[in-house]
Amino acid sequence: MTRPTVLVTGAAGTIGGDVLRLLRDDPEAGFDLVLTDADPDEGADSPVRGLDVRDLDATTRALEGVDTVIHLAGAASPEASWEEVLDLNVVGTRTVLEAAHRAGVRRVVLASSNHVMGMYDRERAWPVYTHQPVRPDSLYGVSKAMVEVLGRYYHDEHGLDVLALRIGWESGDWGAADDELTRAMWVSPRDMAQVLRRAVQAKVRYGVYYVVSDNPTRPWDLTNTMVDLGYRPQDSWQEAAGEEEAAGEEEPAGEEEPAGEEEPAGEDQPKG
Ligand SMILES: NC(=O)c1ccc[n+]([C@@H]2O[C@H](COP(=O)([O-])OP(=O)(O)OC[C@H]3O[C@@H](n4cnc5c(N)ncnc54)[C@H](O)[C@@H]3O)[C@@H](O)[C@H]2O)c1
Repeated sequence: MTRPTVLVTGAAGTIGGDVLRLLRDDPEAGFDLVLTDADPDEGADSPVRGLDVRDLDATTRALEGVDTVIHLAGAASPEASWEEVLDLNVVGTRTVLEAAHRAGVRRVVLASSNHVMGMYDRERAWPVYTHQPVRPDSLYGVSKAMVEVLGRYYHDEHGLDVLALRIGWESGDWGAADDELTRAMWVSPRDMAQVLRRAVQAKVRYGVYYVVSDNPTRPWDLTNTMVDLGYRPQDSWQEAAGEEEAAGEEEPAGEEEPAGEEEPAGEDQPKG
């Protein structure tokens, strides 16, 4: 039996680095990755091919014979302008879903964001569950809510499997999370790679899922991520920080500050 092909858009970005390497090397994956980006490395041996997801014809051609799309491409900053998020996140995602439908792709995994629900975080109206109404904290968050709605439509109307992942903050550098909220939403590259694999393989055909590591202070509900996808986070911000400190590293700024005294990160969050 031939191995299924999983095409990744936006594969030259942050999540496209360590995470996709871990996913490629995961013996439990059982699928082949095709990496694409509008701005690929120019090197002759670069594994990333050029693909602009706003080009419907090119995207449809690229998706012929593909089983699943992991759609990462887009404007990833909570401070991105309306023009950027409309063009890259809304138009880009609709184009990917339409191309997937035309090309007969089975499943699309969408990169959504915690910012879809960021007003709950700003008001500390916790815990937050995926069944609650969306309350975006930025036009970026609004665009990700539209990404989720587009996914719902293509699932209901065209039968495409659609799983939207509300990613917290993925980073290999735990120390860059220097406030209470970003520490609570940290996702290690290993946990991110795991959830992407499970989103490709899960039996469930539609859903919206929070993705953060096993950070004890997280206020976002991971129950359906664990039940539907089988996600079992292996890392936590506290553990990562503890290991580095034990190895003699300096404490990150604010380590000793009591929980609950800092402002929610809101606008300052490094990524979406
Ligand atoms: N990194 C995080 O912590 C985080 C958190 C929540 C959600 N997300 C979402 O996950 C996705 C990936 O995040 P990231 O941090 O890797 O972002 P990134 O900005 O590092 O990478 C995005 C990639 O998309 C590519 N791209 C932009 N426009 C494109 C287009 N029209 N066609 C094809 N490729 C295009 C860029 O060249 C870039 O390589 C984004 O959709 C982001 O909103 C990320």
